[in-house]
Amino acid sequence: MRIAIVPGDGIGKEVVSATLPALTWLSDTFGLGLTYDVLDWGADRWLAEGTGLPDGAIDLLRKEYAAVLLGALGDPRIPDMAHGREILLGLRTGLDLYVNHRPLDLAHGTVDLYRENTQGLYSQVGGAVSGQGRITVAMDECVYTRDTVERFVRNCLLHLRAAGRRKVTLVHKANAVPHTGRLWQEVFRAELARVPELTGAEEYVDAFCYHLVRDAFAYEGVLAPNMFGDIISDIGAALMGGLGLACSASVCPETGFALFEPVHGSAPDIAGQGIANPYATAMCLAMLLGHLGHADAATLLRDCVLEAGHTDAATPDLGGTGTTDGFMSAVLALMDKRQD
Ligand code: NAD
Ligand code: IPM
Ligand code: MN
Repeated sequence: MRIAIVPGDGIGKEVVSATLPALTWLSDTFGLGLTYDVLDWGADRWLAEGTGLPDGAIDLLRKEYAAVLLGALGDPRIPDMAHGREILLGLRTGLDLYVNHRPLDLAHGTVDLYRENTQGLYSQVGGAVSGQGRITVAMDECVYTRDTVERFVRNCLLHLRAAGRRKVTLVHKANAVPHTGRLWQEVFRAELARVPELTGAEEYVDAFCYHLVRDAFAYEGVLAPNMFGDIISDIGAALMGGLGLACSASVCPETGFALFEPVHGSAPDIAGQGIANPYATAMCLAMLLGHLGHADAATLLRDCVLEAGHTDAATPDLGGTGTTDGFMSAVLALMDKRQD
């Protein structure tokens, strides 16, 4: 089995390159037979050749690879992020990765945030009217099809039930954005009626953010449309202790194909210093291994990343003095020790 590695830009390259030795070590130690190829999709190639997501990329991934591990995209030389949208959103929609699972690992346990990953305000439907060299009207439409909301909600509810969760909260804004809001409410209520093990709640996104910060303990599973889920992810990361900790899986339940990426971006403010936290990326690798059925390898990696986070190998965002590579060396040393 082959894994496609897309380091991307900025600290994406640093955290991915630090994490790859763990993939090799785990594959060798557990006999997983995993190999990988590094794909150079990102700002450098965009600036050199004008290529973001190369022609045939989606077919290539589907045919040749079991999963994708991605770092981050974003480069100050491309301020409108055109390449990032083409690559990131292109992968999410092209591979139909409509379920984005972003677990918030908090002191009391995990809140499972599920973000719809392909439609809503990210549909790329819209346009702008310009006059005298400036934009006068601009539109980015929030588009949702019943099909996608239904399959998203249904899959999330089944995952939550399988994980033994009892409560699920829909985040919406039906008071101000009524059409998509009502579609989500209608589908949520209908799908929930089919899963009696789960109790449903609905909250306006603004109040939800307020409650999440004050008392995250109140939540177990959370379902959010695309843009709300994006914003809640970063609030959740702050509650976890920083963006360097938050991992995510984007999945197409029908094909099983999945892409794993940290929640954070390319962090130009610290790129090139070797101090970015690879914790989230290593946790993404653990999610990837778990997704491919390698539960033992996933658990060992997750446990050792967690442990290394409490040592002096921790990076500055966690209050430590460690480096990106040093942190992953510490993780490898812990895995080595436990496996003896
Ligand atoms: P960011 O997530 O890159 O950084 C926000 C803050 O968190 C910064 O202060 C950064 O130093 C810190 N941070 C993030 N990851 C960290 C890590 N692993 N270790 C330590 N500190 C970390 O958000 P931004 O600055 O708004 O965006 C930078 C670029 O990344 C932009 O081009 C944006 O579009 C892009 N972006 C990409 C993705 C992605 O590829 N999935 C996600 C978010 C942002
Ligand atoms: C994320 C990022 C992306 C998103 C951007 C970079 C397009 O913020 O993965 O959270 O909005 O989905
Ligand atoms: Mn985001």
